[in-house]
Amino acid sequence: MSVHHPERSPAETAGEGTPTQVRHEAFRRRTFAVISHPDAGKSTLTEALALHAHVIEEAGATHGKASRRSTVSDWMQMEQERGISISSAALQFTYRDTVFNLLDTPGHADFSEDTYRVLAAVDCAVMLIDAAKGLETQTLKLFDVCARRGLPVITVINKWDRPGKDALELIDEVQQRTGRTPVPLSWPVGLSGDFRGTLDPRTRAYTRYRRMAAGAALAETEVFAPEQAAELEGAAWTEAVETAALVAESNGAFELEAFRAAESTPVLFVAAAMNFGVATLLDVLVDLAPPAGPRPDADGTPRPVEAPFSGFVFKLQAGMDRAHRDHVAFLRVCSGVFHRGMVLTHAATGKPFATKYAHHVFGRDRETIDVAFPGDVVGLVNASALRAGDSVYVGTPVTFPPIPHFSPEHFQVARAVDAGRAKQFRRGITQLELEGVIQVLRSETRGDQAPVLAAVGPMQFEVVADRMDREFGAQVRLEALPYTLARRVIAPDPEVLNRIPGTEVLRRADGEPIAVFTDKWKLGRVATHAPEVALEPIGGDLD
Ligand code: G4P
Repeated sequence: MSVHHPERSPAETAGEGTPTQVRHEAFRRRTFAVISHPDAGKSTLTEALALHAHVIEEAGATHGKASRRSTVSDWMQMEQERGISISSAALQFTYRDTVFNLLDTPGHADFSEDTYRVLAAVDCAVMLIDAAKGLETQTLKLFDVCARRGLPVITVINKWDRPGKDALELIDEVQQRTGRTPVPLSWPVGLSGDFRGTLDPRTRAYTRYRRMAAGAALAETEVFAPEQAAELEGAAWTEAVETAALVAESNGAFELEAFRAAESTPVLFVAAAMNFGVATLLDVLVDLAPPAGPRPDADGTPRPVEAPFSGFVFKLQAGMDRAHRDHVAFLRVCSGVFHRGMVLTHAATGKPFATKYAHHVFGRDRETIDVAFPGDVVGLVNASALRAGDSVYVGTPVTFPPIPHFSPEHFQVARAVDAGRAKQFRRGITQLELEGVIQVLRSETRGDQAPVLAAVGPMQFEVVADRMDREFGAQVRLEALPYTLARRVIAPDPEVLNRIPGTEVLRRADGEPIAVFTDKWKLGRVATHAPEVALEPIGGDLD
């Protein structure tokens, strides 16, 4: 994959940062993520968006997983073997003088904690739905997470070129199950499986698509007035006009405030593999998606975009470049101008942090970044002191809200296979804990050589085992524990809970006592056996 450098504005080139310039740069940023249930076409759409914006010179001729492995966002060998994407990074491209920052999210539900961190760093989400499957488990969970963050969502119904559900049925599902009012901004002409083009319900213009060789080039489109469309498409056009009018009548016209307030969701019909409707999505992002705006700090006070530089870490990644054994901290810029080389203050410790090495990172591609504006993502190399959720700033101090943990549901004890590699084992576990790859719980009884790993999804254990072996030279033996629930303990003597069978009290690195339970009945026994103990969900309102 070769990357074109996005065109730089004069302010970017100069690295200037007058308040007006910073506001202007923030205003032309769109920072978003594409999220979906696996297989809905997230990777295909990412490529199609990039293709439209002319980032990827040579469009992947096919969109299959096999051909893509070496092109987009996969670098861990394990990811390649399994065809899943675990790591997050950002793709930057320009379109209509707008700078897009497309943040990558892992496709698999087991890494939902990583997805959540990415969603903390974006201003908008594009929710992709497979037209044949409708809303799936992960789709609903993600809609829920977006609702909790108050994040605007653009709903994109994909694979309309293939037989699937009825358009009205899909709109109804969104209406019934997401808590947002769907407002179609494009309506398909032709049933699913016979995708001829789209009607714009606002202007009634018809965009006709012409099939090209599989994904090899941009889709050819022609725009027609309604009268011509009726002549060209006959019954299919009349049907589209009538059903779109029905939806508009019941759900109302599109209103920007309702979309930005996460009350309604614009809906588009596309076929990402054919590049049908992809340009419309880019236009909707430019015209309607929120630009980078003032970010509230931990107390809820917004930091204006033109304030001195600030940002927060939403993702840590180590071992991307094995030759250098580096740790990259991905930072979302919240205010001001980032200049490579500037010295930041790390809010958690008050210590200075030098930024000699800063990159745009997407998959295997890296490009040194010299200047970044609000909404942009900066990959800071050798940032092992930074943790996910940490804030950094220049000048006026700021701490952005912490990113909450998810409640783990899977627990395994880890031990070094070779007792002689205890040092490497400890170093590796600590590093993976710091990156947020896994939560680590310890107790005096179990000892440092046998920590309990706590995960949201079991595939996280595979990542730990793989990285411990490859990066830290410490093969691990994992042994499953029967626990399924975890709660934070608030009590003068948390260890009293150890007396309840099927319950164990462990400590997080920050000293917080965490009780784990085999099932909800054991958890229920706390009230009778230790009424003085209070339990709190780990993920706060996420549980
Ligand atoms: P994901 O990242 O969300 O997991 O999905 P991905 O893009 O890998 O797409 C999943 C499958 O859906 C792929 O098929 C892809 O080609 C197909 N797909 C994506 N968008 C469209 C579309 O608009 N129309 C149709 N018909 N198919 C689409 P695959 O079986 O993994 O690869 P392939 O052998 O079909 O190329």
